[in-house]
Order: sequence, then structure tokens, then C-alpha cells
Amino acid sequence: MGNLGNPLFARKPVKLLLEEMEGENRLRRVLGPVQLSSLGIGAIIGTGIFVLTGIAAHDKTGPALMLSFVVAGLACIFAALCYAEFASMVPVAGSAYTYAYATLGELLAWIVGWDLILEYAVGSATVAHGWSHYFQDFIGIFGLKLPFVLTNAPFDFNPATGALNATGTVIDFPALVITAIVTSILVIGIRESASFNAAMVGVKLAVVLVVIAVGSSYIDPRNWHPFAPYGLTGLSFFGKTILGQTGKGGEPLGMLAGAATIFFAYIGFDSVSTHAEEARNPRRDVPIGIISSLLLCTVLYISVSAVLTGMVPYDKINIDAPVSNAFAQVGLTWAQFLVSLGALTGITSVLLVLMLSQPRVMLAMARDRLIPQSFFGAIHEKFRTPWKATILTGCFVGVMASFLPLRILAELVNIGTLLAFIIVCAAVLIMRRTNPELPRPFKAPLFPFVPIAGILICLLLMLSLPSENWWRLIIWLFIGFSIYFTYGRKHSALRQMNERHVMK
Ligand code: ALA
Repeated sequence: MGNLGNPLFARKPVKLLLEEMEGENRLRRVLGPVQLSSLGIGAIIGTGIFVLTGIAAHDKTGPALMLSFVVAGLACIFAALCYAEFASMVPVAGSAYTYAYATLGELLAWIVGWDLILEYAVGSATVAHGWSHYFQDFIGIFGLKLPFVLTNAPFDFNPATGALNATGTVIDFPALVITAIVTSILVIGIRESASFNAAMVGVKLAVVLVVIAVGSSYIDPRNWHPFAPYGLTGLSFFGKTILGQTGKGGEPLGMLAGAATIFFAYIGFDSVSTHAEEARNPRRDVPIGIISSLLLCTVLYISVSAVLTGMVPYDKINIDAPVSNAFAQVGLTWAQFLVSLGALTGITSVLLVLMLSQPRVMLAMARDRLIPQSFFGAIHEKFRTPWKATILTGCFVGVMASFLPLRILAELVNIGTLLAFIIVCAAVLIMRRTNPELPRPFKAPLFPFVPIAGILICLLLMLSLPSENWWRLIIWLFIGFSIYFTYGRKHSALRQMNERHVMK
């Protein structure tokens, strides 16, 4: 029965997972390999490359940003291979949450599901902020400006003092509006969302290629010296520096610290696995979607960061809209226009896919009755989408995006996602031992090197984030535990099934 004795560690049998897929309350199977890869790219290229590269290069890495992208890319490639193995084995909605339930038991599955809210919902709020920066940059090209009070969250976090400062604004209004638009599109349906996404992916890929092609002729190699002004490390633990330089507020600086920040740019490839249930041939196409989208984005990111740090001295890189501003700095206004447009489109597609993924994880948790099924499991009769969970996600994202600062949100998303990746890598290690016989249409290569390397690099990146993030993660998990112990544990379908089994 996959039960280790203590119900907290009860594991959901893979057979049961597969049987559930045959049930009534199904999503439509409409996605092929190209659409899945496009959903992956749709979720990956966005605020990370178009906005966070500025903060990372300017404050933490200098030109060594290129190496930061290599390190963060490696962490994701190892994790992606593990995701792909699971997705081919258990192709149901729910992604890492479902994998953890099958291997590590209910409590850890809950932690992952709760953690994925950080990745998808809080991630969407971060992305909506990035959209707002580029929107304002874009209308600025035409001399337009929003009233100041509507331009940003009402406070910002100052890493040097560790305090929150008032920004003088009231709300990030563009972030709220884009969230509302995307929520409405998502309620209508996956097929429509997938074609909308494919169009946006085309535009953003074209813009990224233009950035690389045009920008590379403006590279001045002198800008790459010094290559790593803040050093090549940047490791700390709960505020205690282990390796490298620290900033005024004690936060780690250097190439690794930069990798922990721009890790955000890669987040999203795993969202492909939340669509396994909507894939026509999930066992083959989901691994293809995950790995191909990630590899393509890694190559593009390293190239864009080389171009950006080559075009502008690192200490002159703009923090809000770095890529379009780099073109403004070399006098190419037409390229600034194009980049802002591409960034806006690209970031919209990230928002679309991340907000598409969140309700699907909730749907999986609702089927297991860890959260109320009547609400989170409700599928719209006509649209066949988890509409109630989608609207709730939209409200949560809208409120966070309007009022919380980008920096806090991005780092919280990173630490939560890194933890989820570590659990997925660990789950692959465990599953190979506990269920060696299960068919694995895709197997992570070089076993056990890949999952172990994935765990170690993700841990390294967690340690490179400023200490406040550890506290925020602990508080977040504490809230999650409280909900699990007051609701989830009591209602768990698996627990009830196991109890009936014992009574018979
Ligand atoms: N990777 C996504 C982005 O950078 C979340 O916007």
C-alpha cells in the first residue's frame, strides 16, 4: 500500500494515480510536443531575462552574469531531467506535488504543493511587476506617463538596511490590470490559451534573437573587464558569510549570489509537467517539452547576458528595464521600441503559463482532498477548466502584484522553487529504489549523478540567497503546516482509504 506506518508518510500508490486518470473529471487532451515546448518557452523567457538581469549584473555579478546563467542553467537541467523521468512515468496534473506523494509521502507532498504556490502564484505576481516596468518604459517612448501613485507597489525593500521604505506610490496599477486580463483568458480554456501563448512565444523569440544579433555589433570587450568585480562566489547561511564578499546589509555578492537571483529566469520549464494530463502523448511529449524548452532558453540567456554586459559597463546597467535601456544608451531608439514590445509580449506569456499551472496543482491536491474539492476541484461545464481555482489565483496574484515589491517576491519565489527541485531530485533517487520495475519511458541519464548534482547545486543556490529569504520560507512553511494539520490531514482521501482498509 506504500504506507510506511505513520499516516503522515503514507504514499499514494502509482497504480492509483494511473487509475485516477481514467476517471470522469478530466481535462481535454489537446497538446502536442510543439505546443508543450512552446508552453515551456512561454513560461521561461520573461521578467528574469528582461528585468532581473539588471539588478543581478549591477549589484551582484558584473559581467560574470554569463557564468551565473551557466550555473543556474545547470541546476535546472539536472532538475529538468528528474522532472522528465517522473512526467513520463506518472503523467498526471500536479507535477512535483504528485511525484512527492508517490514517493515521499503525504506530508512532504503537502510541503511541495504549498511550495509550488510560491513558484506559480507568487511567481506570477513578480512577473506582473516586470510587465508593469516594461509597460511604463514602452508608453514612455511616446512621451506618456501614468500618474505616479499608480506606478509601483507602495513600499520597497532596501537590502542595505534590511528595512521597508515607502515609495510614495499607492498601487502598481498596470500589474493589476494585466493579471485581470490573463485570468479572464484562462477561464475560457486551454486550447485558446495555448494558441494565444504560441503567438506570443513567436514574438518574444524573434525579439530575443534581434537583441543578440543587433546588440552583438555594439559589444565593447573593455566592458567585460573586470569580469567578476564582486568575485566568483557569494555564499552565506542565515546571514553568516561562508565564502565571498557581502553587501552593506550582509547579503552575499558575487557570481553565485547572482545565479541565485537570476535562477528566476529559468523558472517555468517545470510547468510543462503540470499539463501532462492535457497532453496527447504525455509519456513521450512531456519530457521533450521540458528538456527542449530549457536547453533553448539556456543558450539564449547566456548570449543575451554576454551582449548586455558587453554593450553597457555593468555599473551603468539600468535596473528597471535593462535590455531596452541598453539599446537606448547606444542610441538605437527603434530597437528600444522593439525590445519593450517583445518584453511586454514575452512577459504576458509567462504570466499566462504560470497562472495556468497554479490551478492545476490545486486540482491535483483537491482530488486527494488535501484542500476542499468542491471549490478547487470544480471544472467548468462548458470550458472544461478549473475555473474557480483560476479566479482565486487571479485575485491572489493581483493583490500581491499591486502591493508587494519585486525584489522580495522574486527571492521568495526562488527559494521556494529551489526547495521543490531538491525534493523532485530526491524523489527520483528514492523511486528508483522503491519501484525499480515501473516502466520509465524517459530515464534521467548518468544515475545517480544527475539527481545528486541537482540537489547539491540547488542547495548551493539556496545558500546564496540573502538570509531574510530563509526566514520568509520558514514562515511560509509554518503557515502551510497549520493548514495541513487543521484541514488536509483530516480530509485526506488516502488516509480515509487506508483506514477503511485497516478496519476490514
Ligand atoms: N522564468 C520566468 C520569468 O523570467 C518566471 O519571467
